[in-house]
Amino acid sequence: MSHKRTLVTCALPYANGPVHIGHLAGAYIPGDIFVRYLRMRGEDVVFICGSDEHGVPITIKAREEGVTPQDIVDRYHKIMKDAFSGLGINFDIYSRTSSKVHAQNASEFFRKLYDQDDFITKESEQLYDSEAGMFLTDRLIEGTCPKCGNPRAYGDQCEKCGSTLSPEELLDPKSRLSGSTPVKKKTKHWYLPLDRYEPWLRDWILEQHKEWKTNVYGQCKSWLDGGLQPRAVTRDLEWGVPVPVEGAEGKVLYVWFDAPIGYISNTKELLPESWEKWWKDKDTRLVHFIGKDNIVFHCIVFPSMLKAYGDYVLPDNVPSNEFLNLEGDKISTSRGWAVWVDEYERDFPGQEDVLRYVLTANAPETKDNDFTWKDFQSRNNSELLALFGNFVNRAVVLTHKYFGGAVPENLKPEAIDAETLAAVKPCREALEKYIETYHFREALKEAMNIARIGNKYISDMEPWKVAKEDMDRTASILYTCLQLCANLAIAFEPFTPFSAEKLRGILRVGIDAGRDYRAGEGTPTENFFTPAEGKALHCHSEQSEESLVLNWSMLAATELLPSGHQLGEAVLLFRKIEDSEVEAQIARLDAIKAAREAAEAEKAAKEAAHKVDAQKAEVSFEQFGAMDIRTATVLEAERVPKTDKLLKLTIDTGLDKRTIVSGIAEYYSPEEMIGKQICILANLAPRVIRGIESKGMILMAKQGDGKMRFITPQEAVANGAQIG
Ligand code: 2FM
Ligand code: ZN
Repeated sequence: MSHKRTLVTCALPYANGPVHIGHLAGAYIPGDIFVRYLRMRGEDVVFICGSDEHGVPITIKAREEGVTPQDIVDRYHKIMKDAFSGLGINFDIYSRTSSKVHAQNASEFFRKLYDQDDFITKESEQLYDSEAGMFLTDRLIEGTCPKCGNPRAYGDQCEKCGSTLSPEELLDPKSRLSGSTPVKKKTKHWYLPLDRYEPWLRDWILEQHKEWKTNVYGQCKSWLDGGLQPRAVTRDLEWGVPVPVEGAEGKVLYVWFDAPIGYISNTKELLPESWEKWWKDKDTRLVHFIGKDNIVFHCIVFPSMLKAYGDYVLPDNVPSNEFLNLEGDKISTSRGWAVWVDEYERDFPGQEDVLRYVLTANAPETKDNDFTWKDFQSRNNSELLALFGNFVNRAVVLTHKYFGGAVPENLKPEAIDAETLAAVKPCREALEKYIETYHFREALKEAMNIARIGNKYISDMEPWKVAKEDMDRTASILYTCLQLCANLAIAFEPFTPFSAEKLRGILRVGIDAGRDYRAGEGTPTENFFTPAEGKALHCHSEQSEESLVLNWSMLAATELLPSGHQLGEAVLLFRKIEDSEVEAQIARLDAIKAAREAAEAEKAAKEAAHKVDAQKAEVSFEQFGAMDIRTATVLEAERVPKTDKLLKLTIDTGLDKRTIVSGIAEYYSPEEMIGKQICILANLAPRVIRGIESKGMILMAKQGDGKMRFITPQEAVANGAQIG
């Protein structure tokens, strides 16, 4: 181990929506597993997270709801903090970038780089909303996508066809704030010249960090190969950390400049005395857990900032997962396609570990992966319950039945017992190797293999049968099973901490889960992290009344529970997930999908209705004058037999009474037409339609979706009045 301590961060989630399973699978559950594991190994670890409370989407949401950005972030900060703590994701601190400590810290960080001349400035023309009196970031501009015609493309991207855009490319751009057409206005911004760091980054990442996960390394390489450009780190906005230099009034730090500094600020808030050790001592190992959309910021931009600043440590690793889909579709907050953690906790109370387990077993570690409710159910019922839960339950129940709940003596050992216990060691070794290389899915498989070993052993040994003839042998079998149970209590602690805790209750043992820093230093702030009420999460040494305290180094030991140790009651570790429960979830998603499809169809119809045909070729005044357009009144109307579209109308043109056949039956009934004043082209050459001579044509307005409406003078006029 070449480090003395590990600083683990999880991406600070934007405080503009609740946490969903995609977030959990991407960064938070892996981060928590890693931290729990290190702590159990006795490593010194702080675990930092918090809400990312700046950025344009938060201001847009606030505007839409008619509240302040602070209201929005207050709401979601709480929801997110509760969701994490509810799932046992045990940060030491979950703070927020709207905190005072952060404003000061981010400001100081910028100022130092500014004083060192690490920025360049550029003046550029940017789009400005004169009505709102604000510069518009790309996201605040909406217009028609030049690639696919989507009328609601943003200045940076069209969400319909996925094209990356710039505001200049949009057709008919409008401000999303006021709806007005933006104008160009000069503005000055500060840029971090990433190109200066390129040679260093190439060496640091491409040469020195070949061990980073392939998806992370690959993304970095392609950024670096593409050549780095200076990146603006300031924005013309009101919501954010003010840029602390003269001439920057009305500007704030770009959210991606301030957010990663939040990791430092939050450490400072937690450990005001000793935070520097965690960020500046070369013996600190820094690990960022993130989702794949954050890779460039954590591997290229933030390290360049840290490097520029001078004395900070750099990340040792940046484990990042791919995306998790839901039932075959991309998770999307705006489309409501997600499983929200707060709703999960409501629908599956007490089942936190099932979600943790499924999201790890099915983690999108190397490629995008799919979460399905059927898989959720089957992993619970056939893995957690059938392998792990049943094994423990059989072992404990039988011990109560035959030995009064005390661990029996190993009276009649056989080779198979020792072999079985010995099989745990390779699982431990593999598990450790996988966790240390950030392969949590594989690591979990190894933990589950211990349960498999136990399950097979008890099924093969059949102690319930042996007990009929050989109590000594039964004692040895159950003794062996209980040792495996204690091993499971250790191995599963990082992955399913609630069940591991339950299991420890059954076995009446404590655990040394290492030191945490949740108590901080000095006076705790409201952002310190405490487990949700009623959830005693053993992330620090249990103040156990038990004399037996397990720790990671005991994993694979063959005698964890001595003979005579009294067990607690046998409670079930897992319960069955019923068909009806997952069906309800699937039905909820189906309803969301149906509602979305209906809304999309309605929107498409509306858009089609508004589609306007291009102007026709020019005509001369004479050509127009040749057309005899005039008013008329419908006297009689009837359907043309055997047609759906045609009406036969008798009309009074002021000149004569005549017959016109018109294709409006889809839109008007004969009764509706009688008595209506209309406009006609009177001198159109007669045509015979379905055997009826039609003299002239009714003027109709035809919408983009094909719907037709006849045109009627606003006030009644004499029949035969000329229109022109
Ligand atoms: O993608 C996100 O949710 C960002 N808010 C992550 C920020 S990570 C860090 F830089 F704070
Ligand atoms: Zn498009």
